[in-house]
Amino acid sequence: MVKAFSLTMKKAIYPGSFDPLTNGHLDILERSLRLFDEVTILVSENKSKHLLLSVDERLTLIRKVVARKKGVTVDRWDGLIVDYAEKYQARAIIRGLRAASDFEYEFMMAAMNKNLDSKIETVFMMTSQNLFFVSSSMIKELLSYGADVGPYVPAVIVQALERKIRKVLKP
Ligand code: PNS
Repeated sequence: MVKAFSLTMKKAIYPGSFDPLTNGHLDILERSLRLFDEVTILVSENKSKHLLLSVDERLTLIRKVVARKKGVTVDRWDGLIVDYAEKYQARAIIRGLRAASDFEYEFMMAAMNKNLDSKIETVFMMTSQNLFFVSSSMIKELLSYGADVGPYVPAVIVQALERKIRKVLKP
């Protein structure tokens, strides 16, 4: 059977606070690149979170980390995720799931996004087993105690985080 040749790029967006981007996020990114031609890491606003890094700091750091990865772009968006997806013709929203505790929030968000724009699918990926306990909030907690976050965060981000936390703790 001859397979139909598709000229449409399969684009997805991977939205999140990424405060900071962790190795868990990178795991999800790498695996989503097996499903999509282009994945945009979308630094977005989560109004319920206290943030350590500014949007510009997060964008700069993430761009450094993914600089050599093919098919990855990085952008920011202060509006609804579905509006970005519609504007840039992305067909899917990627979200990582670590544990059952993530599920309710993610399920409600996916349902709301589906209700806002039924053309866009949310694709959940389970974080790899060796990283399921890594979260941005735990990284911030470790940092506040002066613990080493090197095993959980890309190297270029570690130094920036340590500088930042010193400033925040002793302004
Ligand atoms: O990494 P996070 O903090 O879990 O990411 C949450 C995020 C930024 C994806 C979510 O808060 C979000 O989608 N914010 C943008 C506004 C929006 O589209 N909300 C979804 C419908 S209520």
